[in-house]
Amino acid sequence: LHSDASPVKCTRQQEQRCLSDHGIVDARERFMQAYGRLRDDLVGDDSCDLTDDARRWLAQMIDYNVPGGKLNRGLSVIDSYLLLRQGSEVTEDDFFLACVLGWCVEWFQACALLLDDIMDDSHTRRDQICWYRRPEVGLKGINDGILLKCHILIMIKKYFREKPYFIDLLDVWNEVALQTSLGQMIDLIGTHTGADDLTKYSIEGHVIHLPNLSIELDSDAAHIQYRRIVKYKTAYYSFYLPVANALLLSGAKLEDFSGLKDILIEMGIYFQIQVPFQDDYLDCFADPNAIGKIGTDIEDHKCSWLIVQALGHADNNQIEVLHVSYHFVRSYKSMDIYRNNVSHAHSQKNYGKKDSSSVSEVKRTYASLDLKDIFSEFERRCYNHLVTSIEAQKDHAAREILKSFLKKIHQRKK
Ligand code: FPP
Ligand code: MG
Repeated sequence: LHSDASPVKCTRQQEQRCLSDHGIVDARERFMQAYGRLRDDLVGDDSCDLTDDARRWLAQMIDYNVPGGKLNRGLSVIDSYLLLRQGSEVTEDDFFLACVLGWCVEWFQACALLLDDIMDDSHTRRDQICWYRRPEVGLKGINDGILLKCHILIMIKKYFREKPYFIDLLDVWNEVALQTSLGQMIDLIGTHTGADDLTKYSIEGHVIHLPNLSIELDSDAAHIQYRRIVKYKTAYYSFYLPVANALLLSGAKLEDFSGLKDILIEMGIYFQIQVPFQDDYLDCFADPNAIGKIGTDIEDHKCSWLIVQALGHADNNQIEVLHVSYHFVRSYKSMDIYRNNVSHAHSQKNYGKKDSSSVSEVKRTYASLDLKDIFSEFERRCYNHLVTSIEAQKDHAAREILKSFLKKIHQRKK
């Protein structure tokens, strides 16, 4: 494997080089070289009798969807692996295998985002129009998402079939695929779009009269639900999956690192909630040119960090403006609590509506609530808690991996 590059000796010095700004460039270059090879293997795979057109479609689809992100998740397989192998020789073959698993994580993310964009009715992703919005693609994109998921198994079988940890690898990929899909499901069933839901709610009278609610209770429950969604939808595949792959590749047993897993999941939730200017905030306030996508959380009636905090801090007038639908709250609380608060006269006022004036009303309310300060306070508390938990980890490599993750997300401005 990769006989053209020199063998890698993973000393402390090298590990630092890999993690330094300069070293990341080096690891990134090697990572990108592995991409070309993996893509070509998949496109050229002759186990199926594909036409030239089919191979062209496949190559274009992979290039469009897989390598265009920041590659943090894929590269973190390599960083973590080098930290675990510290002091022992990492051959070029070993390094390549870490790249394969890193790319599997990127393939997984590409699949999830491609499909999520269809479900969210999104327009742009990674500074380009969403794949399914290209005129020649449309709903064929669903099948492309399935293909990307199949590719992961092909790559894992090709390179790891003979390894003693092959079954563990399959297990972890299957477990994380399930968790991510369940997270997406929980997110989606608490979300509605367009007229058909409005009709349903007004006919059934499923609209809450928010001023009468105990807002504190409501926001606690919504906050728990928000944590649940991001934990399953994002934290497992973004934080645990790369490290679990690095652990298996280094010969470790996953059950010996359960503390590491718990902190990674906590960090994944923090990543989505606590870091200033994170996705939700950016979704609403950032210039789409700066983040490469246009947010649709308000229109999609998403259980986002911002609406959860807004519900907890808004006064009755502001809640009246948001007027979150009964269905939204029902997802977090038992129906009984709200039964007496149901107004039969209204659908939700602004949250979850597509028209731009409703979206602006919601954003204006967010802006008047000083959510930035609330955000900073959350961040401070969460960061301190993570630092304490990391220091309590007995394993040196586990501490180093966690510190490197924390450093990356804490500095993230996106
Ligand atoms: C983006 O969330 C969505 C995800 C990270 C997960 C989507 C998961 C699926 C479609 C299931 C896929 C299953 C497998 C096995 C890969 P978001 O809409 O909050 O973020 P966004 O603003 O970036 O779109
Ligand atoms: Mg989305």
